[in-house]
Amino acid sequence: MKLHINENHKLSHIEPEVYGHFSEHLGRCIYGGLFVGEDSEIPNVKGMRADVVEALKEMKIPVLRWPGGNFADEYHWMEGIGPKENRKKMINTHWGGVIEDNSFGTHEYFELCKQLGCKTYVNGNVGSGTVREMSEWVEYMTFNGVSPMAELRKANGQEEAWKVDYFGVGNENWGCGGNMTAEYYGNKFRNYQTYIRQYDGNAPISKICCGANADDYDWTADVLKTCFYKPAPPQAHGFMDGLSLHYYVVVNNWEHKGSATEFSKEEYYRCMKKAYYMDELVTRHDAIMSQYDPDKKIGMMVDEWGCWHDVEPGTNPGFLYQQNSMRDAQVAGATLNIFNKHSDRVKMGCLAQIVNVLQAVILTEDDKMVLTPTYYVLHMYRFHQDADLLDSYLEGANETGVEGEKCKKVNESVSVDKDGVLTITLNNVSEAEDETVTIDFRDREVGAVEGIILNGKVDDYNSFEAPNKVQEKNFAVTECKGKEIELTLPACSLVTLRVTLK
Ligand code: AHR
Repeated sequence: MKLHINENHKLSHIEPEVYGHFSEHLGRCIYGGLFVGEDSEIPNVKGMRADVVEALKEMKIPVLRWPGGNFADEYHWMEGIGPKENRKKMINTHWGGVIEDNSFGTHEYFELCKQLGCKTYVNGNVGSGTVREMSEWVEYMTFNGVSPMAELRKANGQEEAWKVDYFGVGNENWGCGGNMTAEYYGNKFRNYQTYIRQYDGNAPISKICCGANADDYDWTADVLKTCFYKPAPPQAHGFMDGLSLHYYVVVNNWEHKGSATEFSKEEYYRCMKKAYYMDELVTRHDAIMSQYDPDKKIGMMVDEWGCWHDVEPGTNPGFLYQQNSMRDAQVAGATLNIFNKHSDRVKMGCLAQIVNVLQAVILTEDDKMVLTPTYYVLHMYRFHQDADLLDSYLEGANETGVEGEKCKKVNESVSVDKDGVLTITLNNVSEAEDETVTIDFRDREVGAVEGIILNGKVDDYNSFEAPNKVQEKNFAVTECKGKEIELTLPACSLVTLRVTLK
């Protein structure tokens, strides 16, 4: 197989947010995962787990979406501010029927993002909230002048307004967020977004409209028909800066999704085939968006993606706690390569969810923490953040799989960073066969190459008993000569190369 790279042809910019994450008040994502409270014996800084924060910083988390998900359209932000003992307790009806004590609220979220050094993405409540409630939340968070909400924030100990980078106007409003039709939601969006005031002209809030579930192309078309608005100069922004897309890889079906760690070859390849389907979804939604927005000013925000397996046996079904194997790592690697290739339109991706829920990068149990194979993928791909996508093409690409479940054997993407260093992420999906790849640069000779690899059996995973079974390691290419590099990708491997050209 040959990978051709045209190092002279930059295609689009890869926004760091493409490597973003999602946190919801669900199971042990927030409570126990990210936040343990200041009185916990687990080492913490202002209640945030120190080990988790450090690991996420090392992974270079660019943005964190909060508070949901389904939870967002039932969240009333005022219940999560002020002295903790006065905060209302509520039942988390979506997720396990447990008591939500609101001890993690707006102030705690901004503290967490400050510690992580990442951008903020707050998701508002359209399903069961009011325009006023949403508008006042934005005022509370972002207004620095004199106003009832700014005064309330100050009284609660936060003098300076925070920066809200992204604000989501509802979540999955076609389903759990209110069961709305596209036209009804589109009109609601027009209304609600009006009151997301841009209090600080130097720190505009990007407004995200609720987009489709998977292949619901009608939703994309109908929502845009209802609420797309092209700004007239000197206005810089229309009604929306982003349109979301949600897509989960469910191996079998929603009733019997399949185990996270025990699966057949057939299920493995079906999973990969479903991961590759992201390419078609993005392409087709992009085509509809381009009918309104040919200059691609509106970002496609894939703010929920990942594998959704059966919960681990014996755990609360409402907590969506699942293990994470090399199969999940392959799904992450393929998906992120797809996002890179579509970075002219895909401006954000949020893996669902960051800790202890669905395809998590981190699992915790009391004071113990495990980095999942997916964590290492995000860590190895961090070099793509803020880089420019380069033109690349795989010649002789063949298929792998079993009868009825075939998919592309190797996937890749290539970018160049501000210092001129190339990042090549190249994955061999086959669970059984190695693959030799020659990388051919167009005009320049290869200077230095550094490699990192993540590999193992497709069902290998890290547990609390064996936390380091799957880990990234250094990787050596076979040969480097003139304008070419030759390497062998072992079966089920993900390789990142950092290449300097002469
Ligand atoms: O991530 C779990 C749930 O999946 C989210 O709450 C919801 O938006 C989606 O259906």
